[in-house]
Amino acid sequence: EISDVQARRVWDSRGLPTVEVEVRTRSGGLGRAIAPAGASCGTHEAVELRDGGDRLGGKDVSRAVANVEELIAPALRGVDARDQCGVDAKLDGLDSSGAFRTLGANASVATSLAVLHAGAQSTGVPLWRHVADTFDRAPSIPLAETQIFGGGAHASGRVDVQDFMIMVPGAGSFDESMVVTAEIYRAAGRCMAEQGRLAGVADEGGWWPNFDSNEQALDMLMRAIEAAGETPGERVVISLDIAATQLRHGSGYRMALEGALLDADGFSERIARWIERYPIVAIEDPFAEDAYENFARFRQRTAAIQVVGDDLLVTNALRVREAAAAGACNTALIKVNQAGTVSRAVAALDEAHRAGWRTIVSARSGESEDVSIVHLAVGLGAGQLKVGSFARSERMAKWNECVRIEQALGSKAFVAGEPLTNTWWA
Ligand code: PGA
Ligand code: ZN
Repeated sequence: EISDVQARRVWDSRGLPTVEVEVRTRSGGLGRAIAPAGASCGTHEAVELRDGGDRLGGKDVSRAVANVEELIAPALRGVDARDQCGVDAKLDGLDSSGAFRTLGANASVATSLAVLHAGAQSTGVPLWRHVADTFDRAPSIPLAETQIFGGGAHASGRVDVQDFMIMVPGAGSFDESMVVTAEIYRAAGRCMAEQGRLAGVADEGGWWPNFDSNEQALDMLMRAIEAAGETPGERVVISLDIAATQLRHGSGYRMALEGALLDADGFSERIARWIERYPIVAIEDPFAEDAYENFARFRQRTAAIQVVGDDLLVTNALRVREAAAAGACNTALIKVNQAGTVSRAVAALDEAHRAGWRTIVSARSGESEDVSIVHLAVGLGAGQLKVGSFARSERMAKWNECVRIEQALGSKAFVAGEPLTNTWWA
């Protein structure tokens, strides 16, 4: 039974304010969680509440913190912390906007996750197990999607594409996939240094994209995979997050590096050419956040690869259903703060699975030491996990948590065996 809910301002990986919530139970349990924050946010996401004004760039969260203590705490006192759906329904009931405009999605998501932790403590099981039991899933260890170069809004638009990532579906375990990833990340840094291009890291820890074209980044990624002793397209494959909403210019897409303005067909052509030239198995947000039809046409022509909706779907069950009806994607990115509560995120994930899609639980570019999403990925059997690059502790904390959980569950729970193929390139 929840006895107290407390909130405070803490700081995220960009040094910006964010909301931390602590939930206490009568039996002495304590659950704690921190809200993450995006940079390339979708218009249709649940809305985080910021103070505005001059101080801290308008990013302070004192109103969201006050909402937790004044509105949420009284509503949750006395509620069973193990009743996640009941708690999340109460949070829904406190905000009539449907997008947590009043309460703040930063207030609601930190509360919802903190309750999840408190519920696990009350039950006396690890968080991933509590998630699996609460939502009646078979837990599994996800395939990691790891950024090597960061770009787009996470690197001041230095290159157009936001995430140049690798996956290691050929690994025998999560642990082994981390070893391969570590070698490739370090090799990429060495290759950058050799060409005089090393210039630190971007927001999520990926190497700063000191390139003259998007293709040059892809070539460097191929070279790093080879330098790590791997054959691209075998054990290791490539994935991209285009985050195309950020590139939208009128009815087309602007590729700043080459000064090109492409219409949707031209942009589609460009990405298709990359898929032919490189072992790319997943493309996230190839078009802007409302371009269902462009997504659908792209999805048809790219056959077997994962077409992932992030800004398009914003972890919203209704939008997943619309996208499924339109044939717009075959994979949903699941960000719990886009939804605003754990239950809403699970509803979006369920809708995706009902459509026969894959799912990727994802962090945001603004993160913290909070590792709750790793437990969600495992406990919900999501299949894949995206938390940024292989540096900076807000990222490594999450990979490390998954290493721990794999040791508890055994490497048989690793789900990477699923085929991830690019039949065009192969
Ligand atoms: P964001 O980026 O957290 O800045 O929105 C992550 C993503 O686009 O996947
Ligand atoms: Zn994205």
